[in-house]
Amino acid sequence: MKDRLLGTSLWEGMPLQVKLYCPDVHNRKPVGSVFNVWHDEAVTQGKLNTGPAPVPPELPPDGSDQSDQSDQSQAEQALLEWYIAVGADEAVGDAPINRLQAAAQTTAATPPQHTPPSATPRPSHSGSVDANAIAAACQTLEELRQAIETFPGCALKNTANKTVFADGVAGSSVMFIGEAPGREEDLQGLPFVGAAGQLLDRMLHAIGRDRTCVYISNILNWRPPGNRAPTVDEAMTMLPFIKRHIILAQPAVVVLLGGTSAKYLLDTTTGIMRLRGRWAEVSLDEGGAAHLPALPTLHPAYLLRQPAHKRLAWQDFLALKARLDEIEARA
Ligand code: URA
Repeated sequence: MKDRLLGTSLWEGMPLQVKLYCPDVHNRKPVGSVFNVWHDEAVTQGKLNTGPAPVPPELPPDGSDQSDQSDQSQAEQALLEWYIAVGADEAVGDAPINRLQAAAQTTAATPPQHTPPSATPRPSHSGSVDANAIAAACQTLEELRQAIETFPGCALKNTANKTVFADGVAGSSVMFIGEAPGREEDLQGLPFVGAAGQLLDRMLHAIGRDRTCVYISNILNWRPPGNRAPTVDEAMTMLPFIKRHIILAQPAVVVLLGGTSAKYLLDTTTGIMRLRGRWAEVSLDEGGAAHLPALPTLHPAYLLRQPAHKRLAWQDFLALKARLDEIEARA
């Protein structure tokens, strides 16, 4: 008997409830567990809902008088491995939650409340108003790091393991800005340390640099669950922080790694394929008086998927090298 997986929702980034069904049983009775996963690449790539899925191992029933504890723990380990094998990479909760229904019930049941004035800034709807004031008040990178770590306006912090602030050396001529931490970055608390980061290191090496003479951060400081793309709200909420980060790190140029970084820092809807390799300007204040040269290029994670495009990134890195050599020769 073969099982297959059906999801109740395929919206990218939404928590997804997954049930195992037997296709050959009338009325499609569930045969396995119901669990929550984040809709991630595994779903997008069809790993979750195509082909026969592994059969979940059975746990001994609760309260069974089975004395051998190791059997229980082996069964739990096997079940966990099975979840991982079918693509569940985040433990979202013990029981499935219908979040749309829960949100509707909360809205209906919660009477309007008066919030007492608080020293902690409340997130605004866009989050950007408070974030602007908090970011602008930071005079050092350490203050900025602490302000981000205690910032209440971005829910991504609640699902992340670590706040990922920066790596490299502040004050370097060049600052690289990616999109958001991935799984490895979330575990280590450093940007670009996973597979994409290793490629970035090789690209830096190819132009005679390493992390001792560059500075690296991201638009978002927390990993979006399942590595989904940041929402507009998340990116706009955190934008004042990365702009303040650039001001405090004082690079001569910034490199925008990928479409998300370019979109928000250049405030453009033009795609990365058209933007890449052309020097642009990042505006760092409201009036646009403070601005810096910015070079958009392809994201290393994209290059891992499309290695033929590495030659485009190589052209961009050569342009970067020429600019940095010129800047550093003048200094
Ligand atoms: N991708 C990013 O955009 N940033 C990281 O830190 C890692 C992967």
